[in-house]
Formats: sequence, C-alpha cells, structure tokens
Amino acid sequence: MSSRSIRSPQRSPNDEFLRFTSSVGFDQRLWRYDIAGSMAHAHALAKVEVLSEDELKQVTQALRSIADAISKGSVRFDPALEDVHMNIEKLLVDAVGDPGKKLHSGRSRNDQVSLDLRLMVREALKDTSALVVRLQEELVEKARTASGMILPGYTHLQHAQPVLLSHHLLAHFWKLQRDFDRMSDCFKRTDISPLGSGALAGTGFKIDRTVASKLLAMDGVTENSLDSVSDRDFAAETAFALSLLMVHLSSFSEELVLWSSSEFGFVKLPKQLSSGSSMMPQKRNPDLPELVRGKSGRTIGDLVTILTLLKSLPLAYNRDLQEDKEPLFDAIDTAQASLDALTSFLRAASFDRVRMRKSAEVGLMTATDLADFLTTTGLPFRTAHGLVKEIAEKSDGDERRFRQLADKVIREQLKDFRTSDLQLLSIEKAIERRSTEGGTSQEAVSRQMEKAKTKVRQNKKTVSDMTAKTAVIDGLIG
Ligand code: ARG
Repeated sequence: MSSRSIRSPQRSPNDEFLRFTSSVGFDQRLWRYDIAGSMAHAHALAKVEVLSEDELKQVTQALRSIADAISKGSVRFDPALEDVHMNIEKLLVDAVGDPGKKLHSGRSRNDQVSLDLRLMVREALKDTSALVVRLQEELVEKARTASGMILPGYTHLQHAQPVLLSHHLLAHFWKLQRDFDRMSDCFKRTDISPLGSGALAGTGFKIDRTVASKLLAMDGVTENSLDSVSDRDFAAETAFALSLLMVHLSSFSEELVLWSSSEFGFVKLPKQLSSGSSMMPQKRNPDLPELVRGKSGRTIGDLVTILTLLKSLPLAYNRDLQEDKEPLFDAIDTAQASLDALTSFLRAASFDRVRMRKSAEVGLMTATDLADFLTTTGLPFRTAHGLVKEIAEKSDGDERRFRQLADKVIREQLKDFRTSDLQLLSIEKAIERRSTEGGTSQEAVSRQMEKAKTKVRQNKKTVSDMTAKTAVIDGLIG
C-alpha cells in the first residue's frame, strides 16, 4: 500500500467531515458584513433588553477590535469552526464572554449568511456600476475625438452601410447603460434585510426587525421567513447581470481583436497593453481583449452553477446554498477586472482614420441609398431594390462600374436628372442622410452624445446614492 494514503490514521471521521463542509476558506471574504450585521443585530437585541446597554457597548467594542485585527491580517480563521460566522462569534465570546454568547439570540446562521451575502452583493453592485460608468465615460470621450471618422457598418460581418465611428462606439455605450440599469434594479431587491427570520420560522424574541435594517441603511425587511433564508434570487440576478455585461464586453473585445488584425487595421494596439510573441519577433498580440472575451465564459459558467444549485431545492435553508459563494465571488471578480482592463485598453488605443475610410469605400455600401433615391421617382421600394440588386450583381464589387450603371438607371428613371444627384452615392452623403433619431448622421450622433452625457451624470448620482448606503458598513465597524 502506498505510504501516502488519503485517509491518514490520525484523522477522525469528524475531521474528514469538517474538511468537506467547512467554508471559511472562501466565506471569510464576508467578514466586514458579518461584523456590521452583528452590530446591527446587537442594537436590535438591546432595544428589547436581551442585551443591557453595558453589554451592547462591550459587544460592539469587541466587534470593532475584531474588525481591526482582521483588517490587519492578524486573525487566523479556524476551519474547524466551519465558517466565518462561527469564527467571528468565537472571537467575540473569547473577548467578552457571556454578552458575546447572547448575541446569537433570535438569530440563526441561516438569516445571518443571507444578510451578509446581501450586504456584500450590494457593495459589489455599487463597485461594478462605478466601473461601468468609467468605461461609458471612456466611450463617450473616444466618440468625441472620433468626430468625422467613418468605417464600414456590418451585418453578418459583411460590409453593409457606412457609419460614423462615434456612432459605433456609442452602440456599446447603450448596451452598458442597460447593464447599469439592471444592476441598479438588482441593487434594490438585494437591499432588503432578512435578519429576524431565524433558522426558518422567525424568532420568539420580540425584536423590531427594522432596527437592524435601518442601521445597515437597508430598504426595509423581507416578508416571509421561509422565503428569506432560502432566497438567493439576488445572487442569481447579479450573476445574470454580470454575465450579460461580460457578453457585451466580449463582443466589444471581439471587435478590438478583429480590428487590430492586418486585414482590418482599424485599431492600433497600445504598446503597454499588448504582448509580443516569444518566437515571432514582428508580432504584437491583442491579449487583453482576447482574455476579456475568454473570461466571459467563466461568468456564464458561474451563473449556470448558481441556477443549477437553486433548482429543485425544497424550503427552507439547505446546506447546498453554501455553494453559492464561490461562483458569485468569481463572477464579481471577473467582471470587475475585465471592466477595468478594457477601460485602460480603450483609453490607450487609437483608431486609424485612413484605413477605416478606405475600407468603407469597398462593398458598394451606398446601394441602399440608390434604391432609396429611386423611390423619389415614384418607384415602390421593392422594385427599386430589385433594379439596384441587378446592377450590383453586374458590377461584381467594382465601385466604378457600379456608379456607371447607377448613372444609367437614374437617367432612365428620372427625366430632370442632375449630375449632382449622383452625389448621393458618396459615403458622406449616405451618412448624412440617416438623420432619424438614433441614426448615424453627424447631427443625430451629436444629439445622441448629449443624451449619453446626461446618462453618465445620472449614473454617477446613482452610484453616489449606492455609496451612501454601502458606506455604513465601514461606519459601523470603525
Ligand atoms: N456556512 C453556511 C452557508 O454559507 C451557513 C451555515 C448554515 N449552516 C447550518 N448548519 N444551518 O450557507
């Protein structure tokens, strides 16, 4: 038999059990929220005289010094105590004795962990929202400096119609705006206190649940104790909001990867934020957007893990729920790191006006404009479309030939033809014509830009409202 057998003779079955069930290795990340939640609960207990004023003082002071010790890195969490909640309670009891033992009155780890996780998610949503706004600001700034730059717009990744680069960049802005709105919305549902739900049925201690929720600056208390200890909707919603955000970042990243290739050449890779090849001396690689693209898969995996975990769980608390944390933390870390990286990348990247403009001249991109124009002679659009399709096929991608044929068609259809009518086949004209709300004309894009700037201002206000709430955690723990 191997001398390195898995089951060492000294280890008791209980050690094995703890090794498998202990979560403090990862849930220690919740310590700040756990301590703040305990302080809030202590106040609620003091209000109904389960803790005397003096005991409340002892407990809150001790919790503050535990927070101080943890933040300095001088606390070693004990896996034998299972999770962060039991570890902190043990430190408290060691520090103050009986008042510490009273703290768990009317509370279970089931409502405690739900509270801690909500407080953590609330802050993560605030931080991620702030990072989204930074990327939005960068997009607006790049859109501003991209004034007048034209590139091909694509459908099916085929040249379709010319667009302004600022319009293209702002398209990503609005996707991020929906991500931002989703996170603010999710914030509201997360920001509710489950404390007082006990293990599952509520508590016989006559505490006022709003005492803790107010101290934590939360927006009220949950309605049903069974629901409260089993509800992880806020975790799933957050993972979804982050996944969709990452999907958006992955699409943007994909474009940056494509655009930095020799075939496109629209984007110049920032030197500091791209790598060379260990073998090919001439190479420069878009590692950063490639990694963001790749990391989006992790976030989606995290979401699926959480949903699968929740599926078919009976009421109320089940230990399965402990498995919600690692994927949730991973989704948060991945999204935040990706946002940060992509913002730096965009800030440092530059666009090649000439390459984009040249590319926009390829692919008969004004064919729709010709068809549109022919309808002014009374031709139904479908008929005009058919005529232009014919000449497009005949010209086989040759711009000059297309123009000659277009000229002919226009003369045939239009009695009072003016050569200036052919101007409509210019790329600039094609852009200028699309001036409807949300279109790519300079005028429409300027209006859009103003709206985007207003959104940024509103988003900043939303983030600062969120911050006012999340800041109470540090306020409580000192
Ligand atoms: N560590 C657990 C979790 O993360 C909370 C503990 C609840 N345990 C229990 N035996 N009721 O979900």
